[in-house]
Amino acid sequence: MCSGVIRLAIVVWSISCMSMIAGHRILACEPCPGHSHWNVMSAVLESLVAAGHEVVCVTMHPPTDRLATHPNYTHVDMSSLTISTLQPARDMDYAHVVKVFQSNAFMVGPITTREQFLCKYLFDMPVIRDILNGSGPAFDAVVMESLHSKCMSTLPDRLGVPVVYVVPSPMVNWMPVATGAPDHPSYLGTLLADRPTPTTFNQRLANALVYVHTALVRWYNDKGRDHRWPEYRHSMVFVNTHHSVEPSRPMGPNVHEIGGIHLNRSLVPILQDLTDVLDKSNKFGVIVFTFGSLISMNTLPDDVLDTFKIVFSQLPQTVIWKYENDYMPDKPENVVLCKWIPQRAILQHPNVKLFISHGGMSGVYEVVDAGVPVLGIPLFYDQPRNIQNLVDLGTALSIKINNLTHTTLSITIDRLLNDKSFSENAKRVASLFRDRPMTPSESVVYWVDYLIRHGTEGNIRPSSADASWTSHFMLDMCAALLMTMMILWFVSRVVLQFMFNKFIPSNVK
Ligand SMILES: *[C@@H]1O[C@H](CO)[C@@H](O)[C@H](O)[C@H]1NC(C)=O
Ligand SMILES: *[C@@H]1O[C@H](CO)[C@@H](O)[C@H](O)[C@H]1NC(C)=O
Ligand SMILES: *[C@@H]1O[C@H](CO)[C@@H](O)[C@H](O)[C@H]1NC(C)=O
Ligand SMILES: *[C@@H]1O[C@H](CO)[C@@H](O)[C@H](O)[C@H]1NC(C)=O
Repeated sequence: MCSGVIRLAIVVWSISCMSMIAGHRILACEPCPGHSHWNVMSAVLESLVAAGHEVVCVTMHPPTDRLATHPNYTHVDMSSLTISTLQPARDMDYAHVVKVFQSNAFMVGPITTREQFLCKYLFDMPVIRDILNGSGPAFDAVVMESLHSKCMSTLPDRLGVPVVYVVPSPMVNWMPVATGAPDHPSYLGTLLADRPTPTTFNQRLANALVYVHTALVRWYNDKGRDHRWPEYRHSMVFVNTHHSVEPSRPMGPNVHEIGGIHLNRSLVPILQDLTDVLDKSNKFGVIVFTFGSLISMNTLPDDVLDTFKIVFSQLPQTVIWKYENDYMPDKPENVVLCKWIPQRAILQHPNVKLFISHGGMSGVYEVVDAGVPVLGIPLFYDQPRNIQNLVDLGTALSIKINNLTHTTLSITIDRLLNDKSFSENAKRVASLFRDRPMTPSESVVYWVDYLIRHGTEGNIRPSSADASWTSHFMLDMCAALLMTMMILWFVSRVVLQFMFNKFIPSNVK
């Protein structure tokens, strides 16, 4: 407890010292415990400090090496209280995670409640309280993840400086409306529905239901329950998509795609024993299998693990399996276990023929960049739609985990390895993905500088963002038109009746 107070005092002191140095100072905040969120946010912050900005970041995630060793980066730890929801989420129990995410499409209620708890905790931290009550150091801009609740908008609102929201997934549901971009559930997929573009009637209906449910629950949790958060002061949004992978959607000049920004980091070298496995593989090559950082693979149900083991044992390829234990009962001969793999470096190796993945955003961009086909076994959140994107591009096939049997798994792996179209499409998409006018890092640095130079001038915010819903749906105009028509109808009726009575002799009636 005491050391916590001292740590905080040092942080406050170092922040106030830094405010004496001239230059652009950016306050960053990543309040989400998911490691994949930090993977994107830290890449954004690395780009900013590399460009000469000073960054103070409030988060529970330990800084990356490039941030920790940079003199202009200050880390403010928000995990000092041992609240389980505020610890970085890694290597969790599969059954627990599945329970949390069981009603994926309709989970916006629990998400917003939890995020309001995060906000409350955050705004109680002395460092943030100082900033909020105006006695803290000054900043030139705020860079943060917005979460699904409006509560986080308090921070930039009090500071009154430009704000950049970083979205580490595809567009979150409320973002298009808040940025003034058109959003239509009839043909644009929402984040929590499992496809990026609904096409059949049933898919469009499901998408619209998820959309309406999300909008209503968010409204109720943020406004209906007596919370009064400030409106979003959107200056800009950086979203982790790229149109070569995610179907494009209309967006204004206040939204920029930074898909794959974490690929800007240099490759982590592969250790010698794995290099040997990759270099010395037989002509059939290597398969890489991982479910990412959130779930601990050894907590998967036994029948699922057995299915993988039996099917892998029948393959001529070597399988590199990210697995948390050194020992696996009945491990097939051709399986190599690794507690941690330098995934991106491995995927670039020419002998890798297939990537088996849950479809986390970072892994998707790494495999797209490497041009390797994918077997997707999506679990929750944005994963089903991330994998569906690859299926639509012809670089992947997908199996639901509850449909995983020896037959489905071996037939699907067989098709992916033997049908040349998957790897040809993967190479084609990789070249589309890499072809850009500037790297995502350069784009981040350019647009943050632009905001600090010009503020919100320059019409980057479409006027549609501030339109009321009556004017958006033209309700006022429809009402005026309807009223005019009713008046005309009434007047002409009265006039006609008058003339009828006057000019037609009463004996005709
Ligand atoms: C740190 O920030 C200061 C002031 O903004 C700047 O002058 C300096 O070049 C930065 N240092 C590095 C290593 O980028
Ligand atoms: C702001 O909050 C801090 C920490 O809670 C407190 O020490 C300080 O006096 C407050 N300042 C103002 C102006 O209220
Ligand atoms: C990442 O991007 C920044 C800014 O564009 C650049 O300075 C840096 O060299 C890049 N790093 C790598 C490893 O490409
Ligand atoms: C399960 O897999 C089989 C064979 O690939 C497929 O025909 C079927 O549609 C799948 N079922 C579900 C619910 O995905």
